[in-house]
Amino acid sequence: MATPFDLTRLLPADHFSAALRHDVLHGLTADPKWLPPKWFYDARGSELFEEITRLPEYYPTRAERAILTARAAEIAEATGARTLVELGSGSSEKTRLLLDALRDLGTLESYLPVDVSDTALLDAGRALIAEYPGLAVHAVVSDFTATLDLPPSQGPRLIAFLGGTLGNLLPDERAGFLAGLRAQLAPGDALLLGTDLVKDPSVLVAAYDDAAGVTAEFDKNVLTVLNRELDADFDPAAFEHLARWNAASEWIEMRLRSRREQAVKIRALDLVVPFGAGEELRTEVSAKFRRRGITAELAAADLTLAHWWTDPEDRFGLSLAVPA
Ligand SMILES: C[S@@+](CC[C@H](N)C(=O)[O-])C[C@H]1O[C@@H](n2cnc3c(N)ncnc32)[C@H](O)[C@@H]1O
Repeated sequence: MATPFDLTRLLPADHFSAALRHDVLHGLTADPKWLPPKWFYDARGSELFEEITRLPEYYPTRAERAILTARAAEIAEATGARTLVELGSGSSEKTRLLLDALRDLGTLESYLPVDVSDTALLDAGRALIAEYPGLAVHAVVSDFTATLDLPPSQGPRLIAFLGGTLGNLLPDERAGFLAGLRAQLAPGDALLLGTDLVKDPSVLVAAYDDAAGVTAEFDKNVLTVLNRELDADFDPAAFEHLARWNAASEWIEMRLRSRREQAVKIRALDLVVPFGAGEELRTEVSAKFRRRGITAELAAADLTLAHWWTDPEDRFGLSLAVPA
């Protein structure tokens, strides 16, 4: 009998440590300095992200949940999926709306959550097998920017990529990612994509710089990860969290600004990183989208937009796309 929960590590054992070393060496010796956002998500980072989703300023989770609540049955009908795959699944909290709808339709057999965070996958997986008797949960620890190869699963498959996480990829990376995802889709499979939409910059900036300082702690968590994994000596208090709207690129940038001139040692890389007073390190880009742009990006990857839904306040978009 198949076990109801298993966890697969898709990448070689040393992938994450090698990738972290590569990204830190390149990003912190670049001008301006930057790091990819996937390094926020150790166990503490995953917990902090969950706290962010409950903040009054962080509307994207509530807006996307409102769309899923209204449309999950329609999505289930349109796809008839036997397998739900989810990239960057985190706590799989909103996913339950899709699981419920596919279970009610009678098609659901398995769920494949994919995430860099093994603690998030283990916590979510344990809860889900208790809540969904009979559902096979195959959690996959992987990096979707390194590979989109997934364990084989029964079609038709619905691939969900929620939470606006697509916006954390830069435009070139997005194009490569969507083309790679398209190559994984068989006829009958579908992609469900959640994207945050362009809106008043003051609303956007507040969502990434909340009054309680949770996003600031999340942002600085990457420094704690570097201290632990690379024997670095970042003092998180010596950096200030910033969120900025980049109007030309239509994305929010999260940055850490050095409060003073300082030199940080990263002993595992035999590297000293100088920061000038006021110098900024970009830790995340979160692109905001318009329907026209998403349709074009999907089309460039040979995907056709079949449905487009927004929440009642037009803050967030959910697209259902199929192979062209
Ligand atoms: C913005 S959160 C969204 C979480 C959840 N999908 C939601 O909608 O609330 C991004 C999620 O993607 C995961 N993640 C980030 N970069 C990743 C990568 N390169 N490969 C796999 N997972 C990644 C994080 O661990 C986190 O769970």
